[in-house]
Amino acid sequence: MMASKQWIYAGIVLIVAFLTSCSQEEESHKFTIGFSQCTEGDAWRKAMHKEMEREASFHPELSLQIKDGKNSSATQVKHIKKFIEQKVDLLIVSPNESEPITPVVEEAFEKGIPVILVDRKISSSSYSAYVGADNFQIGKLAGEYVSNLLKGEGKIIEVWGLQGSSPAIERHRGFLEGISQYPEVKVVAEVKGDWEKEVAKKRFPAVFLQHPKADLVFAHNDVMAMGSYESLHGLKQKNRLKFIGFDGLAGPNGGLQLVEDGILDATFLYPTGGEEIIQLAYNILHNQPYKKENILNSTVIDGRNVHIMKQQSNKILSQEENINRQQNKISEQIKIYNNQRTLLYVLIISLVIIIILGAYAVYSLRLRHETNRALMAKNREILEQRNEIAVMAKKAEKANEAKLKFFTNISHEFRTPLTLILGPVEDALQSNISTVLRKDMLLVRQNALRLLKLVNQLMDFRKVERKKMRLQTSESDLVKFVKEVVQPFERLARKRHIQLKIIARVKEINVYFDKDKIDKILFNLLSNSFKFTKENGRITILIELSEDRNHVLITVEDTGKGMTPSQVANAFDRFYTAEDNASLGTGLGLALSKEFIKLHHGEISVVSKEREGTRFIFNLPLGKEHLKEEEIIMEPNKSEQSAPLIAGVLDFDQVLFSGTQVQEPSETAKEHTILVIEDNKELREFLVSRLATDFNVVDAPQGAFGLQQAFDIIPDLIICDVTLPQKDGLEVTAMLKKDMRTSHIPVILLTAKDSLEYKIDGIQAGADLYVTKPFSYLYLLERVKGLLRNRDLLKVYYNSAIAVDTKVQTAQPKQLDKKFINDVAALVEKNLQNTDLSANDIAENLGMSRVHVYRKMKALLGYSLNDYIVNTRLKKARHLLLSSQMNISEIAYEVGFSSPAYFSTAFKNHFNMSPSDFKSTRPGKEKNLV
Ligand code: FRU
Repeated sequence: MMASKQWIYAGIVLIVAFLTSCSQEEESHKFTIGFSQCTEGDAWRKAMHKEMEREASFHPELSLQIKDGKNSSATQVKHIKKFIEQKVDLLIVSPNESEPITPVVEEAFEKGIPVILVDRKISSSSYSAYVGADNFQIGKLAGEYVSNLLKGEGKIIEVWGLQGSSPAIERHRGFLEGISQYPEVKVVAEVKGDWEKEVAKKRFPAVFLQHPKADLVFAHNDVMAMGSYESLHGLKQKNRLKFIGFDGLAGPNGGLQLVEDGILDATFLYPTGGEEIIQLAYNILHNQPYKKENILNSTVIDGRNVHIMKQQSNKILSQEENINRQQNKISEQIKIYNNQRTLLYVLIISLVIIIILGAYAVYSLRLRHETNRALMAKNREILEQRNEIAVMAKKAEKANEAKLKFFTNISHEFRTPLTLILGPVEDALQSNISTVLRKDMLLVRQNALRLLKLVNQLMDFRKVERKKMRLQTSESDLVKFVKEVVQPFERLARKRHIQLKIIARVKEINVYFDKDKIDKILFNLLSNSFKFTKENGRITILIELSEDRNHVLITVEDTGKGMTPSQVANAFDRFYTAEDNASLGTGLGLALSKEFIKLHHGEISVVSKEREGTRFIFNLPLGKEHLKEEEIIMEPNKSEQSAPLIAGVLDFDQVLFSGTQVQEPSETAKEHTILVIEDNKELREFLVSRLATDFNVVDAPQGAFGLQQAFDIIPDLIICDVTLPQKDGLEVTAMLKKDMRTSHIPVILLTAKDSLEYKIDGIQAGADLYVTKPFSYLYLLERVKGLLRNRDLLKVYYNSAIAVDTKVQTAQPKQLDKKFINDVAALVEKNLQNTDLSANDIAENLGMSRVHVYRKMKALLGYSLNDYIVNTRLKKARHLLLSSQMNISEIAYEVGFSSPAYFSTAFKNHFNMSPSDFKSTRPGKEKNLV
């Protein structure tokens, strides 16, 4: 890029240099010539100028400036001063009068300006050169000529030019010298004509009238002679009076014409010298030799030679005209030449610019090409690098995922042993044990719970990381909730003499929050505070509204050991490992708290000073606009809510019952059979041994075998782990629930996976209950009993439903069970008249074995299929007895009894009344007979 710019600069410099050199060629030899002319008003001087200009045109380097003095010496002085100021290269002066002009000409000359005097002189020799005729000689010539013309005798009137001008003085002197040989030739009078025709014309008549006998008028120039002549218009004497003048100009009113016309007797040629002046100026300016005095020749023109002179002058005039024409042509040619030259310059410049631009374009094209190539190479490199990075990132992600998975699985694995630790510990704590052992057991429980808390936090992190952590908020009074969370800490506070205080600036405030998560946060903050606050310290929990009343602020403040600035800066960084990381707890709790707060669209911050204390503040937005629809759940059932403290420690969805609860004696002792499908040997054995107290227990170490067992024994309840080899718990449940034989069996799923999704999966598979490890055995037992109780209630329900209408209308039971009951009812109803209708027929029709039908009937309705058939016949009979005109025998056959006697016995056994007695009773009594 730099190089290309240099190219352009070089080009521009070249063009400028070229242009200036062209114009300098013209400019360098330009000379300014200032010409101070005494007057421009007469033909003689006009002729002079013409000549000068013509001559100057041959020398284009000469520039001529003419200033007209208008016959005023003062004006002329001014002009010359201007020329001096202007620093002209050469000064030409034709002084109006000698004396007044002399000083200024001297000044110019002294300042080094060459001065050429023309026609008239100054009174000093401070000038470079003079061009003009010798006025004294011409005057003398005229004197001699006049004397001859007058033949040695005559009176002369002399018409003077300006008396201060040198030609007038010299011509006068010369004339007097010329006539001096002739004493009878006399100048009798003088007229002041000032070189002007009109002046002479005006003044002459008066003088002439005084000298009417004068013979000749001697005028210093032709125009004054003509003026004098004209002034005598109409006078007789005019004809004999002779007129002599000077100048002898060619042209219409020039002296030559006047001589030819006989108005003048003679004129003396006085050359204007225009050509000579310019030649002289040229020489001076070009430092060429020149003469100081350049005297122009003169001659007399009278009747004898006027013709030749005129012819010659005409010739000269026409030649001059020719020259002028040629000059004009040359000027035109020069103009054309100049235009063409300018055009040529423009073309050359354009060409140079085009060449430069072309070169630049080629250069930049090449440059761009190269840059493009380099860029493409770079691009390729970057692309390769990006791909490599992507591959590496994918690998890292995979490795990370695998690590996290492993890590989660390990965490899961912790839960089973923890259940096994906590179960016996709970049991031990409930039994009569020594104080020492109780203390130990409490220590074991406390540490197992602590370990559980860590495992849970780790798993929460995994969920947060996988964006699986979901907010499940419901609207509750936050003040009440905080009090509930804080309350269990009161004992600890009392014990350690710590002042624990809740300051609620609002009595009640309804906030949408996830109880589980806020509980964890508060529990974590409080645990930290208690950990670092010494005896007699203070822990304060402040609940208030934000200034804008859009948030609720919760502050947990302690007077503990405080944190270092670096610990404060990294308080919420889970990867931060301070030297003394003990002061930040596990390092996970705060980071997790922050994530939970973020999920709530709130903020958490910490202010701490070493040895003074720490203050955590978090806020939660009010209202529910910030929450997604799926983040709001209905208020959970009070009975299902977990007590905050325990949840804070154990944070899973069921409660470890406190040891004060006493196990109720089993009502269902050995009546029910439970199948335990669990791959963990210890847990399986633990469950089997415990459940065996109350139930018949069958176990299976994996899913497929468990399933087989279920089909074989049709248990009353199944406890199944979710994570099982080969066939997992969800599959087992789904298969059990899909099968008519087992669909009625309640299934409890055991798992360490406590996320909502897993629960939903479990429920979708058909599980009746979801219990998360670690669990309390007592809790599990209660749930087992509860489910079995429900099953019994269901039996009553089915029975009553069948009793009333023989049809099951409710939607409460599981669909398959409903179908089963319906199918059985429909088959029995349809074949009621069939005396031979047996359980076998029904089982066959249902596509099930007799045993399965028997067990299912037993489980769902509490009696066998045969009993059900008999019951149905009797219920139908009762109905017919009430509503039909049929007699007892007809009814007996109608409902499928083989004989009326058997019908009567069966009816009496069932209803404690014979059919005939029943028929005779009022319909109102019917309701008592169920
Ligand atoms: C022109 C003129 C001429 C004369 C000359 C003398 O201005 O008057 O007629 O010869 O000047 O300076």
